[in-house]
Amino acid sequence: MSDFGPIQRRWRAFIAAHAPGARAEALFSAEPRAADERLLSRLPPLRISEYQRISSEPRAREWAEARRLELELRERLGARASLSIAHSQGVIAVGATGEEITGVGVDLEGAVRQLSEATLSRLLDSEEARLAKDAQASGLEIWTLKEAAFKATPDNTGTVLSSYLLKHLEQVNEAQTRYLQGNVQGPAGRTLPVEVHFWNGFIISFAVCVREHLVSTPG
Ligand SMILES: CC(C)(COP(=O)(O)OP(=O)(O)OC[C@H]1O[C@@H](n2cnc3c(N)ncnc32)[C@H](O)[C@@H]1OP(=O)(O)O)[C@@H](O)C(=O)NCCC(=O)NCCS
Repeated sequence: MSDFGPIQRRWRAFIAAHAPGARAEALFSAEPRAADERLLSRLPPLRISEYQRISSEPRAREWAEARRLELELRERLGARASLSIAHSQGVIAVGATGEEITGVGVDLEGAVRQLSEATLSRLLDSEEARLAKDAQASGLEIWTLKEAAFKATPDNTGTVLSSYLLKHLEQVNEAQTRYLQGNVQGPAGRTLPVEVHFWNGFIISFAVCVREHLVSTPG
């Protein structure tokens, strides 16, 4: 299991990245495998029809492997644990936490993806752009952290990425690793701690939605 930073240490959450050739400490390191009878027998019918609708084979494998991770983590952490999954290019990231967290969100993007100016201007207002610039964060990093905050928010229906406002962002250099940490303000004024990490050519963002009295704002 990789240690991805303070969110994980503080909230006893963890994030596992799964990739062909993943580092030894990553929790899951096999190739994504297609669904087999054993997996299908453990999934509800709605999930099986979701799987049958996926037309791309690599995506279907990622989806099936994500379900295996989900089932395994639920067994370890209990039915009430929050889980979040992101997959891209054969890599799967999972965020999971125990009961003190009301939601967890993880997002994953290949670091080379480019966002258009039009997308960036919808994503960030001028104050957020200033915070991003001061922390030397790219538009893609902000995108993934907002996606993670969206996924961590239990009642996210009807919200869009611009509903999640960046309020604080700083670069942390720790044991030769650079990552970003900050806070996002979500719907209903909720504060969500977020982190952005770099792993094997991917940007992985992680957000948690914690009970109000447990939140403290860095900086
Ligand atoms: C739904 C959404 C989170 C999917 O993201 P993605 O980058 O396409 O795919 P990812 O691999 O990162 O994440 C997929 C996982 O997100 C999770 N997910 C889907 N909908 C979700 C939701 N409403 N809340 C939390 N998690 C969700 C699922 O676990 C899914 O995994 P699965 O496909 O194996 O079931 C994203 O498209 C979205 O709606 N984002 C926020 C809204 C917005 O403003 N989007 C702008 C896009 S133009």
